[in-house]
Amino acid sequence: MTRSFLRCSDPGCSRESQQPGISYACASCGGLLEVGYEFGEADPGRWPELWRGRQGGDEEADRSGVWRFRELLPFLAPDQLPISLGEGSTPLVSSAQAASWAGLDRLMVKHQGVNPTGSFKDLGMTACISHAVSQRAQVVACASTGNTSSSMAAYAARAGLRALLFVPEGAVSSAKLAQAIDFGALVIETGNNFDQALKLLRQVAGELGWYLVNSINPYRIEGQKTVIVELLEQRGWRVPDYVVVPGGNLGNISAIGKGLMELSSFGLISKIPRLLVVQAEGSNPFFRMWASGDRTLEPLPDPQTRATAIRIGSPANWTKALRALRWSEGAAESVSDQEIEAAKEALGRDGIGCEPASATTVAGLRKLRQAGQIEPEADVVAILTGHQLKDVDYILEERSAEDRTLRLEPDSQGAPDILSTWLSTLS
Ligand code: F0G
Repeated sequence: MTRSFLRCSDPGCSRESQQPGISYACASCGGLLEVGYEFGEADPGRWPELWRGRQGGDEEADRSGVWRFRELLPFLAPDQLPISLGEGSTPLVSSAQAASWAGLDRLMVKHQGVNPTGSFKDLGMTACISHAVSQRAQVVACASTGNTSSSMAAYAARAGLRALLFVPEGAVSSAKLAQAIDFGALVIETGNNFDQALKLLRQVAGELGWYLVNSINPYRIEGQKTVIVELLEQRGWRVPDYVVVPGGNLGNISAIGKGLMELSSFGLISKIPRLLVVQAEGSNPFFRMWASGDRTLEPLPDPQTRATAIRIGSPANWTKALRALRWSEGAAESVSDQEIEAAKEALGRDGIGCEPASATTVAGLRKLRQAGQIEPEADVVAILTGHQLKDVDYILEERSAEDRTLRLEPDSQGAPDILSTWLSTLS
């Protein structure tokens, strides 16, 4: 029999939580909680074969790229069906253009934008909404820069739960908001940035009995950790030298770190990839801490970046992220909005679209290459976190759509001449 429980993620405390139901912070030291397991008689050596065998299965859980790996997240009762939309099973593709732009011989990207609601959040959401159902929650809520909210809205709708999202006013892409509204979520606009929205939500959620689905929710991390398992499976369990992700609230890097620690403890991998996290320059408190050697994060009161998904000045998961980076001998990097745009363009030359936040990965790789911190022949995987269509306003503004658009009357005389002249003026 396996047993799951919540414990403090601070290695100096590690206390098991005695509070019933969901909680987020340790009652003794205030550290974030994480899910721990006692695996009983498990035989992890057999799992990779078991997981492969489930591919293409009839069961909804087997068709999910999260629940196919359910031995790694055994927190639901065996008879509870997860709330799933067939998340995961995302493509791993090469990008020669982005590799050459970054100064690498090769680069693989794992595209998490190809998830049911278009971002990596779906992996975590299937896990925490399933947990919310097990706790008989009625209302789920999150603060969000957009993707968490669209994902929450979809999974909450599927589970029949009321969904409330707290978003900074005018600072979330309209596509992401539209998704959430389409699924029937209610929107509370508050403050100028994510940090203010999360702070307010944390204050009210406890009193109102709402179930929080931000990445401080330990069960969300459990779903998100499976991306690394799927990635390794896709590579025949060959571990890359580096895995790079964008950093916002730092849940994703924490989840990938936890997944790797567990795979390593089960003896399923013998090498650890170095984890790299890349923040946008105007929203980079974690990078600043890392670069200065400080071990306490100084929040940025007014975070800025055009990559709105990661416009966060006070990342809640920074202690877990620090643990993952230290354990994997990884690093943090920071890139400007111009570098993000150039990286997005490089990916685009390979037909790979993503949202700006995702392109920080490639921009960060280029910077680390130039600083000699990554070898050109390194085996690198970048995790692209969100779909290209999540932020079309950004594309239309950055790509000078006006310069690329010709208005032509349908009955224009001499259309061939007009077209060829116009084409010849374009680079
Ligand atoms: N990439 C995208 C596309 C995101 O939406 C986010 C976070 C991140 C990267 C950063 O991931 O927070 O785990 O470090 N979006 C959150 C949201 C904050 O509300 O949708 P992280």
